[in-house]
Amino acid sequence: MTGVAFLLNGTPVRLGETSPTRTLLQYLREDRGLTGTKEGCNEGDCGACTVIVTDEHGPRALNACILFLPQLHGKAVRTVEAIAAPDGTLHPVQQAMVDHHGSQCGFCTPGFIASMAAAHAQGRKDHDVVLAGNLCRCTGYAPIIRAAEAAEGQPLPAWMEDDRAFILAQISSGVRGQTAPGAFRPETTDELADWYAAHPDATLVAGATDVGLWVTKQLRGLPQVAFLNGIAEMQRIEAQGDFIRIGAGVTLTDLRAAMAGPHPAFAAMLTRYASEQVRNAATIGGNIANGSPIGDGPPALIALGATLHLRGGTARREMALEDFFLDYRKQDRQPGEFVEAITIPATAPGLRVWKLSKRFDQDISAVLGAFNLTVAGGTITGARIAFGGMAGIPKRATAMEAALIGQPFTRAAFEAARAAAAQDFTPLSDMRASAAYRLETAGNMALRYWHEASGAGVDVLEVRA
Ligand SMILES: Cc1cc2nc3c(=O)[nH]c(=O)nc-3n(C[C@H](O)[C@H](O)[C@H](O)COP(=O)(O)OP(=O)(O)OC[C@H]3O[C@@H](n4cnc5c(N)ncnc54)[C@H](O)[C@@H]3O)c2cc1C
Ligand code: FES
Ligand code: FES
Repeated sequence: MTGVAFLLNGTPVRLGETSPTRTLLQYLREDRGLTGTKEGCNEGDCGACTVIVTDEHGPRALNACILFLPQLHGKAVRTVEAIAAPDGTLHPVQQAMVDHHGSQCGFCTPGFIASMAAAHAQGRKDHDVVLAGNLCRCTGYAPIIRAAEAAEGQPLPAWMEDDRAFILAQISSGVRGQTAPGAFRPETTDELADWYAAHPDATLVAGATDVGLWVTKQLRGLPQVAFLNGIAEMQRIEAQGDFIRIGAGVTLTDLRAAMAGPHPAFAAMLTRYASEQVRNAATIGGNIANGSPIGDGPPALIALGATLHLRGGTARREMALEDFFLDYRKQDRQPGEFVEAITIPATAPGLRVWKLSKRFDQDISAVLGAFNLTVAGGTITGARIAFGGMAGIPKRATAMEAALIGQPFTRAAFEAARAAAAQDFTPLSDMRASAAYRLETAGNMALRYWHEASGAGVDVLEVRA
């Protein structure tokens, strides 16, 4: 049996022939008349299209505009039309938005309600983080945050439990193993490896936070597609002695949670990676494989000394992550080869990662610097430094590293590293930053490392006038 099967607002749906790149937003608005879910940007930026998707990991907020229908197979979707109870009783977040005047024109409100209801079900209280991917142009955020706070701790409406019960029943009955028409949906890496070796020109889709835009913005057709989000083994994070192995299909949300203990600076930077909805979909494998010079994951992973694990058919190979990036958008990946995992050290207490962007939330980096220093007896014994936004690829700063290694841990050493940035990089000017800004701020990050180690306040959220 083939088809894409999911639960929509409590009712099972089974789709037969449908384009694998039809988005959930198109389906809701055009095929089902569920126009409560809005289209703002159609590229994952505004959150007007937010829906709640529940799977075995629980409910998450996702952007319907860059979510292809086969990605929903075996999951439960809830739109703003079904967030109130069937008898019309409002969900606690809806009632709180009314009580606290959280809506004016109302265009953004369905997306906010979906994000808030998902967060309410998760027991979240970090409302600024949760709502950073929802854009409101007229109400202002204070009443909305007040509403989210007012709904904290109120009981979870029963429908949310219903969605979860459906998922568990699906898993136990094995329904989830079906293949979507027009698209391959493997459930093991072996299946993916065999299929991709035979179809090396196909497009792999993990979270679709890049590929989704190829379709919605570049109007590209994707004749052959494999959806990776059914491969549970690629979504694991495993402790392996002194290392942590991270499957390519691990979402940025799960990675951020897993890094909070061993690598808190990395986790803190990931809070500024896109938005809640995008992090819930985007995978670290996609972030590496797309080879962007401004991807946030690779510089931090390179500074950590990550090893990349590639697989093509039955052959596996591994390399230092920095060797994967050859030139602008050119990676050392053979036809039919895919990213299976990365491994990183379990500890790196000297790791610091800083993202500079025009907006604090939901913005692409102008410069991202990652510094992993080791110090023994007052001497800098090791330095791995990598930057994004400074070259056509994520790149190590070998001159900055050389300026530090073997030096006493003093301001002078960091001043020398700051000056060495100009030997490492000749950045470009673009809409995000000028070349001069990039070079100056990259160098300044070396000094920031020194200041932070010396106990000075360097976090923009902590520094007060
Ligand atoms: C609104 C918005 C904000 C964003 N903000 C940020 C940000 O702050 N920082 C940042 O770094 N990025 C950002 N991005 C970009 C994007 O989220 C990341 O690049 C993301 O990690 C891509 O992962 P994905 O799983 O969605 O990849 P997909 O879109 O599914 O795939 C991306 C590419 O990787 C390939 N691919 C995926 N998985 C594999 C695999 N296992 N093996 C081989 N190839 C594979 C695909 O074929 C495709 O070429 C943003 C995107 C959006 C839409
Ligand atoms: S329409 Fe803007 S995020 Fe989907
Ligand atoms: S209420 Fe108008 S954009 Fe938010």
